[in-house]
Amino acid sequence: MTVVIPTLIPYGRHHLDEEDVAAVVSLLRTGALTQGPAVDAFEEAVAAYVGARYAVAVSSCTAGLHMAAVAAGVGPGTTLITSPITFVASANSALYAGGTPAFADIEPSTVNMSPQRLSDALTHNPATRAVVPVHFAGLPCDMPSIKAAADAAGAAVIEDAAHALGATYSTGERVGSCAHSLMTLFSFHPVKAIAAGEGGMITTNDEATYRRLLRLRSHGINKLDDPFQLPEQAVTDDAPNPWYYEMQELGYHYRITDIQCTLALSQFRKLDMFIARRRQLVKAYDAALGDLRHCRPAQASGRDQSGHHLYPLRIDFEAAGITRGDLMRALRARGVGTQVHYIPVPAQPYYRRLGFRPDDYPAAQAYYREALSIPLYYDLTDDQQQHIIGSIAELVG
Ligand SMILES: Cc1ncc(COP(=O)(O)O)c(C=O)c1O
Repeated sequence: MTVVIPTLIPYGRHHLDEEDVAAVVSLLRTGALTQGPAVDAFEEAVAAYVGARYAVAVSSCTAGLHMAAVAAGVGPGTTLITSPITFVASANSALYAGGTPAFADIEPSTVNMSPQRLSDALTHNPATRAVVPVHFAGLPCDMPSIKAAADAAGAAVIEDAAHALGATYSTGERVGSCAHSLMTLFSFHPVKAIAAGEGGMITTNDEATYRRLLRLRSHGINKLDDPFQLPEQAVTDDAPNPWYYEMQELGYHYRITDIQCTLALSQFRKLDMFIARRRQLVKAYDAALGDLRHCRPAQASGRDQSGHHLYPLRIDFEAAGITRGDLMRALRARGVGTQVHYIPVPAQPYYRRLGFRPDDYPAAQAYYREALSIPLYYDLTDDQQQHIIGSIAELVG
């Protein structure tokens, strides 16, 4: 007997076409594999698109978050506040920089950091240097309120926009313009809006921050026309020493390659097309799933603003009479992949050992109990979406 294993529809995936392949192949023929013009071209394209003065491409969003925390002054004796519903990297950036992470609970209706809870957290953590709101699933946070709270506490705002390339704030600017922040971070991991293999980008409008990020990306070595700290070593008989460079602080090797940036740039040209299709799929899910008794979209607002990285549902498993594990297995048997975004960071064993208690973030815990992300990506067909909707309606009701 042959067992037919249905092809799994994943919860997310990238879209590559022949243009992407051709772009990378022609880059390989140039021989400029890293620190070449493709990095600059990608940075310029993203900066122009989001409306920021500067962009610094890095090896991953995680690397960028680490550098951003350092550039914002996070270090021993200081705190960085983020959302409990995020990927662990957002909070880990505090620890990488030698600082202490803290969490501000979410707003149940958006799954984003609550400005009110942020104000509370800032009161409890007077040494906060950075606030890291996360545009969960691509939905922009309430940035004017978050910025006002952070400003009042003298903390910098670093937006974790790993999910939100192509999204727009309610105030009209693009996420990444840093209209309400010092820095914004993007990720180009394949499951995100555009794929570079791995990669990240930091945007900022602040020149001093930009220069610092350039140094931190490459070993702390001086860049552009940064003044030398030992000028007498830099010059012989009034002529600049051509070999001379200075390591001026402890930096990292967080550079990205031209190979990755070439793929990313080719992908970037399709970003608006990717998002338009994701938005269409989201609206179809909203219409079909909104009427189910035990299940609702986790984020119902901002459908025309979101970058639509994920489609998270909230399911009342108890009322539906099925556990999350059984539902995931039953959907998988029907060829539908799902995932939970995210286990609250304070619930991770490492964070519990640091003294965090998940119950201190009741809105995050309540969301986590009900969360399930269902497939959302550019190549998802209408037929596949109908199959997903039908399977959920049948299993959850
Ligand atoms: C919210 C968030 N922040 C940061 C990251 C880290 O991105 P990267 O994989 O590019 O380091 C991710 C990746 O999943 C993420 O979802």
